[in-house]
Amino acid sequence: MADYKKPDYWQLKARKEGYPARSVYKLKEMDEKFALLKTGGGGAPPGGRVLDLGAAPGSWSLYALRKMAANSFLVSADISPLSRQYDRGLFDGDNFFFVQGDITEPAIQEIILSRGPYSLIISDAAPSTSGNRSVDAARSLELAEAVLDYAEKALVKGGRLVIKVFQGGDTAELLKRIKTLFDTAKSFKPQACRSESFETYYIGMGRISR
Ligand SMILES: C[S@@+](CC[C@H](N)C(=O)[O-])C[C@H]1O[C@@H](n2cnc3c(N)ncnc32)[C@H](O)[C@@H]1O
Repeated sequence: MADYKKPDYWQLKARKEGYPARSVYKLKEMDEKFALLKTGGGGAPPGGRVLDLGAAPGSWSLYALRKMAANSFLVSADISPLSRQYDRGLFDGDNFFFVQGDITEPAIQEIILSRGPYSLIISDAAPSTSGNRSVDAARSLELAEAVLDYAEKALVKGGRLVIKVFQGGDTAELLKRIKTLFDTAKSFKPQACRSESFETYYIGMGRISR
């Protein structure tokens, strides 16, 4: 079994480069491959809005804030607070808003939706794992479906979406739903995912209509 306590190559690299979690390299790889945050079209154009769901401790949010076009805005949400260890004031900026709460709760949804619409939605939201793979996959699917609801309601035409899913549940149905909403939809597993992890990401490019 992997030793999750001992910092690995990606964790040490993250700390050195000013991020609280190794997960930043998953977003970086997807961004480099799919130009998620590229300005123009979807992404984070000037004046555009990005939504980061399941954002704590905050690596994806920091990556987005460091890369987004001037004048664009980031909304992040998580049950847990963000780490303030590496943000150097970025989380106090005028172009950032954090919602602490459960993204499946209607009151939280309302707050997040009222800050939209968004040109890019990124979700790394994941349940705490129980060790029972089918239970964990079912919980992850529930979260992924909630994220797709946000995309349906609040993603602009041409917008982009990244959703984390645990393989093993009925993810085929989810991917089918993504395919109906986007010009292209695909599954992608970044190299920075732990080799034993059964997580993957679904990526939708070009929201068809709203
Ligand atoms: C893998 S971590 C995200 C790491 C983050 N992308 C980063 O780079 O720092 C998954 C996050 O999903 C959050 N989460 C799980 N279920 C949630 C829910 N129902 N509502 C909001 N956040 C949730 C957890 O609290 C956890 O912080």
